[in-house]
Amino acid sequence: MIYDKLSFYYDELVKDDQATQAWVNWIMDSVSSPCELLDLACGSAEISLLLAKNGFQVSALDLSQGMIQAAKEKDKKHKIQFYCQDMKNLSNLNTYDVITCLCDSFNYILSKEEVSLFFKEVSMHLKKDGLFFFDSHSLDRLVEFEEEFNETGCFEDCQYQWSILSEDDYIYQDFAFYLDDGKIVQEHHIQRVYTPEWLETELKKYFEILKVTTDFDLEGIQEGEKYFYVCRRLL
Ligand SMILES: C[S@@+](CC[C@H](N)C(=O)[O-])C[C@H]1O[C@@H](n2cnc3c(N)ncnc32)[C@H](O)[C@@H]1O
Repeated sequence: MIYDKLSFYYDELVKDDQATQAWVNWIMDSVSSPCELLDLACGSAEISLLLAKNGFQVSALDLSQGMIQAAKEKDKKHKIQFYCQDMKNLSNLNTYDVITCLCDSFNYILSKEEVSLFFKEVSMHLKKDGLFFFDSHSLDRLVEFEEEFNETGCFEDCQYQWSILSEDDYIYQDFAFYLDDGKIVQEHHIQRVYTPEWLETELKKYFEILKVTTDFDLEGIQEGEKYFYVCRRLL
């Protein structure tokens, strides 16, 4: 299961307080006041927790038991209702004013059929006028990672290697952690990148697209790392 082993190192690897604040600002800029929000693929819940701190009533889910465990340990005041489940099936959950799926999480949905069903499922769990915020890897990322990216580093108890490579419309990530006791912990991730044109067509079946930006604040689809979508449930 992806992110179960990685959950031990996720925050050390990618935690970035400034970026977390930028995600929260992006959402708060489009929402008139704090409300009921469901954060899909919440990971270690850095963003979910900051949203809760800002007055949102947050529910958050992730497929990885390890990520949910790490998130719960941080939620000392038990502000968030956590669920460990697949974001593609929300049938046990309520409806919300806002649903979010942030920071490359959407790209773990690997088929067009599943993306279409996912958008439908999200729209059905939004209240009237409810908003859906998500981001997607840009097409430029596919070009960037045609040449393999490699990062190495060390944490307190291990050294790590992280490589990223793209082929066709897929991005492959490999993580290896070399522990001091000689054990090696590895994960292999696959993400898929969809064209903005196809995403727009699918989204419009269930949502009005209110705003598309690149890397938070460049208007529309431009050169950059991620496309950002703010969508409102169709009546
Ligand atoms: C790059 S992390 C982002 C986590 C978090 N949103 C953040 O901003 O830090 C991607 C997350 O997506 C989760 N994930 C991937 N596929 C999922 C699925 N089908 N349902 C729920 N969570 C999923 C992973 O377990 C992981 O925690």
